[in-house]
Amino acid sequence: MSDKLIIFDTTLRDGEQSPGASMTKDEKVRIAKSLERMRVDIIEAGFPIASIGDFEAVQAVANAVKDSRICGLARALDNDIDRAGEALKNANASRIHTFIATSPIHMKMKLRMDPEQVIENAVKAVQRARRYTDDVEFSPEDAGRSEPDFLCRILEAVIDAGASTLNIPDTVGYNLPHQFGQLIYDLRSRIPNADKAIFSVHCHNDLGLAVANSLSAVLNGARQVECTINGLGERAGNAALEEVVMAVRTRQDMFSCDTTIDTTQIVAASRLVSGITGFAVQPNKAIVGANSFAHESGIHQDGVLKSRETYEIMRAEDVGWNTNRMVLGKHSGRNAFRTRLEELDITFESETDLNEAFRRFKELADKKHEVFDEDLQALVSDTITPENERVRLISLKVCSETGETPVASLTLSVDEQESHVQMAGSGPVDAAYKAIEAIVASGTELQLYSVNNITSGTDAQGEVNVRLEKGGRIVSGQGADTDIVIASVKAYINALNKILVPIVRAHPQV
Ligand code: KIV
Ligand code: ZN
Repeated sequence: MSDKLIIFDTTLRDGEQSPGASMTKDEKVRIAKSLERMRVDIIEAGFPIASIGDFEAVQAVANAVKDSRICGLARALDNDIDRAGEALKNANASRIHTFIATSPIHMKMKLRMDPEQVIENAVKAVQRARRYTDDVEFSPEDAGRSEPDFLCRILEAVIDAGASTLNIPDTVGYNLPHQFGQLIYDLRSRIPNADKAIFSVHCHNDLGLAVANSLSAVLNGARQVECTINGLGERAGNAALEEVVMAVRTRQDMFSCDTTIDTTQIVAASRLVSGITGFAVQPNKAIVGANSFAHESGIHQDGVLKSRETYEIMRAEDVGWNTNRMVLGKHSGRNAFRTRLEELDITFESETDLNEAFRRFKELADKKHEVFDEDLQALVSDTITPENERVRLISLKVCSETGETPVASLTLSVDEQESHVQMAGSGPVDAAYKAIEAIVASGTELQLYSVNNITSGTDAQGEVNVRLEKGGRIVSGQGADTDIVIASVKAYINALNKILVPIVRAHPQV
């Protein structure tokens, strides 16, 4: 059996299915480049039939990434497969991932098909996908609640039809580790042509077991794990890439395989994904949480200083803590700025955008002593004009004084029309948000407001995340600035610009 464990990242597809985590095409390309730098084997770039935007994003990732294989998701439907094939046309290496549900409840209630029809559709889908690429992956959705005998039948048939990867999803995160491992073992031993395919797993985290279930599957012969950065994904998320990779790497005494991931890129990728999606990483999150290598108690600190292995099973630098944090300052020139951006795989469509980013960098460097990579990432997100920008901040003045009610004076441009208002609020952010709503009247509800410092120190930029909801649709917005009231306003406007554009988009599993 192969000693290579394939890492299939689905941050851009399943990760994006988390409510509020939608990403623009440019953001997807930036994340894909960071995954490529990490040497992820396969990047699932999206679900091309979902919308024109999704199609173009997959296409853009396929054009930009050369070292990782690019995958597109398709239901077992002709149009889905054709669209995926089209979006992947320029990829250096492509894969089509097609799926159909196989659990009794999904077949009956969702598909309204009998099991024979499901097998027939699965086989046809794989055959059609093979017209576009010889790398076809098939998933029996909700495999974790499907009947093993039926799984054996459908999987044998799709291998015969040309699928070379069989992905076993625990779609609703229902399985327990020993049970899921046994399922992989049984499928591998019972399916007569199982040796012609690689077994993959795709676990959801509803019971907090996604990583444990994935690792149990690997111990039972799975050789591909589908995962996401920071465990992003539908509901409670998917298995976290960083946890799967580091568990296998750290416990080589237990695993007879390993990934080829460059683990030093993990923290940078985690920061990028959390900055773009606005999904903050909890401090005690394994591997990428701010406290994951911090030692609070005196006894631990003493032990670590004497010999780090007393309390540390991994080295912080091996996952990218304290690396990739090149510092630029106010004396750094245009060349140093451009070079560091290139090293971070950040490019601009035009020289004008680069000049604007450099102008903002100088402004920031004047306020802030040292500019780190994280600051640059935030600055770039700020510089790129969002697609369909309808609302623009022209100016903001906020008065906040002990014993007085804070007041915000705000000028916004909405659809190129400028308006000015003054509003009071319980605090400066509240006053500023009331002023925005007095002009825009968006009818949205603020579901989340959070502030984090991007780097340390009181001169650090504050990064604000907001989540807005309207008619069941959720979007998030981010803004960064050394002034947190301005960062808050930028974040709110960023979210408004997303929610004000109606989107018709198909969800693959509904
Ligand atoms: O969770 C799931 O079953 C999926 C499939 C599309 C693989 O995401
Ligand atoms: Zn999933």
